Amino acid sequence: MSLWPGANIPTLTGKTVIVTGANSGIGYYTALELAKAGAEVILACRNAGKGEAAAAKVNAEAPGRARFMALDLADLASVQSFATAFKEGHGTLDILINNAGVMALPRRQLTAQGFEMQFGVNFLGHFLLTALLLASLMKAPAPRVIQISSIAHRSGKLNFADLQFATNYKSWPVYGQSKLAMLVFAKELQRRADAGGWGILSLAAHPGVAATELIPNGPGNDSLMAKMMNIFKGLVMQPGDAGAWPTILAATDPAASPGAYYGPQGFMELRGKPGRAKAMPQALDAQTGARLWDEAEKLTGVPLKPGP
Ligand SMILES: NC(=O)c1ccc[n+]([C@@H]2O[C@H](COP(=O)([O-])OP(=O)(O)OC[C@H]3O[C@@H](n4cnc5c(N)ncnc54)[C@H](OP(=O)(O)O)[C@@H]3O)[C@@H](O)[C@H]2O)c1
Repeated sequence: MSLWPGANIPTLTGKTVIVTGANSGIGYYTALELAKAGAEVILACRNAGKGEAAAAKVNAEAPGRARFMALDLADLASVQSFATAFKEGHGTLDILINNAGVMALPRRQLTAQGFEMQFGVNFLGHFLLTALLLASLMKAPAPRVIQISSIAHRSGKLNFADLQFATNYKSWPVYGQSKLAMLVFAKELQRRADAGGWGILSLAAHPGVAATELIPNGPGNDSLMAKMMNIFKGLVMQPGDAGAWPTILAATDPAASPGAYYGPQGFMELRGKPGRAKAMPQALDAQTGARLWDEAEKLTGVPLKPGP
């Protein structure tokens, strides 16, 4: 793994980080680099075999820094169990990286609670995780929460009339909705943190286009998307480790400003050195942020606010 030219990651010794979906792709490289910088990194993964193997690989380069914990974002009961287990072992959480995701599933699938899978895993599971870990974050001296969005948010729309796409399911608009939701969430979390004095930096990042397991696990290797990527790979796609750079910068940038969004700085933010990314207007609207937040609280049944 390499970092970008001029990268200067501060020491993270004494900090606790959770990275969801850290057994693969961007999450793995993020966990590895933050562990090498000295953080205690929890790899929150749904598959124990893959999670343990990834933690062992990280520990081979950063001894004793990584640990697997079970988290299936497609089941809110698993999110609850993960949060309870984390809080039993830790007083504070410094950095929460909501990275795990599924993309453009060809057929509509459902989570354990009956939510559409992309909206449920990419957004709702992470919303609940953030709600349950808010108190641990607020005990840290300078906590950060990072949502992973995508250039797919640019064409995304929040289908408030049918957030679960019970009718008219289309794989890419549904993915775009989930990634727009992540960016809307990041911005709204910053608004509420500022208004309530929660002391949290709420950030977002996107990887551009990076070679990971996202296409094989989503549209599949026989899909049009996979075929196009094979043709244009050299032009648009960067390696998985470079896809992690914007997340790593968001997690560590000493100059991060509230609500900042990070992404690659090359052509159309597809690849390259990390820096500030452009969020589309639909991600910035405060009324939309409040509406999505209300929906997420209703659907998860848990308010995202500091406890009594
Ligand atoms: N790669 C890109 O070009 C690109 C572009 C834009 C945005 N992104 C975003 O980047 C993030 C990471 O994706 P990636 O590219 O690194 O893909 P990846 O290699 O497929 O990694 C996705 C991770 O999410 C995990 N995951 C999926 N469903 C889960 C669930 N129900 N509970 C817990 N974990 C779950 C996967 O676990 P398993 O291994 O068990 O499946 C895997 O660890 C995603 O949010 C994606 O939307 C990626």
